[in-house]
Amino acid sequence: EEIEKGGYDHFMLKEIYEQPRAILDTYRGRLLADQGLIRMAGIDQNLEKFINANRIIIVACGTSWHAGLVAEYIFEDLARIPVEVEYASEFRYRNPVITDKDVLIAISQSGETADTLAAIKMAKEKGAFVFGVCNVVGSSIARETHAGAYTHAGPEIGVASTKAFTTQITVLSLIALKLAKEKGAMSESKFHEYLTELEGIPSKVEKTLESNKLIEEIAEVYKDSTNCLYLGRGYNFPVALEGALKLKEISYIHAEGYPAAEMKHGPIALIDEEMPVVVIATKKGHYEKVVSNIQEIKSRSGKIIAIVTEGDKSVKEIADHVIEVPETSEPMTPLLTTIPLQLLSYHIALMRGCNVDQPRNLAKSVTVE
Ligand code: G6P
Repeated sequence: EEIEKGGYDHFMLKEIYEQPRAILDTYRGRLLADQGLIRMAGIDQNLEKFINANRIIIVACGTSWHAGLVAEYIFEDLARIPVEVEYASEFRYRNPVITDKDVLIAISQSGETADTLAAIKMAKEKGAFVFGVCNVVGSSIARETHAGAYTHAGPEIGVASTKAFTTQITVLSLIALKLAKEKGAMSESKFHEYLTELEGIPSKVEKTLESNKLIEEIAEVYKDSTNCLYLGRGYNFPVALEGALKLKEISYIHAEGYPAAEMKHGPIALIDEEMPVVVIATKKGHYEKVVSNIQEIKSRSGKIIAIVTEGDKSVKEIADHVIEVPETSEPMTPLLTTIPLQLLSYHIALMRGCNVDQPRNLAKSVTVE
């Protein structure tokens, strides 16, 4: 096992650090920036199904569901295709309206999650075209779907999902960009811009990982907290949900993710000097509005840990701590802003003496209902 950890103390840390390579492996051979195209067999062979789809329904559980939420923003924003994101466990029992004009995308790291598998079977019976995004090659979901695209994250051992999440977002971004181009929803120049941007993500993730020491220091300050709030807007709202899930999964601190603007409809009542609030406040994406949310937290004495774009000045003046991420185009920010949140939960869990790789009561893959 020590050899498998490759010199890291835990699988989770190893997997966090593998992300630059995992993301690269996921788009390698698919993203051909010099030729200005995206090649993905599962999409190329079924292009008509996607182009003519009334809507895309995404089903998943846990972290994969959060990747689905990011995909909703990307697909609607870039490819102008309506998307619904569903918890597989709810969807399968809801008697949902599904037709043969629907495309269902099932996202699953393990490819074995029972609820996701059941949702796929139901959608197939109702005539939908079902596409899988899995990490484990030859898994049940990979076999049960009509077509699919693998994430090439490599084996993920830590129960808390990290590199599976960012590679899922990578695959879904490739699909959205491909469809945007094929549908004529995006100009050729914009398409090229995104391809170049996506190609640059691994080195920007690398850069983000350099904040590890700083994040460890921040973790030291908040390791004894009992609650934590995560806020983000737009593309970073699902990242807030994922950040909160990571913290509760491995550190057992109660954490909640919220769209920043919804704070005033409830969570703001919880804010006092004991409450750390992690706010994703990158440039673009409603920046000014998030800054005003930060001010509201500050005036109630909440402690602010902000994830900001490199060189940011305004947030630095109000936040208690800032962690910088390199600038990128808006749809790709989740690939960067997720990283510090993974590291923050890792360090806090470790300092609390928790079993980071195998948290209590949780399983890596949930093959029963
Ligand atoms: C379990 C794991 C999570 C994972 C979820 C969905 O709860 O602990 O990390 O996100 O299942 O798993 P899947 O393999 O379908 O992505």
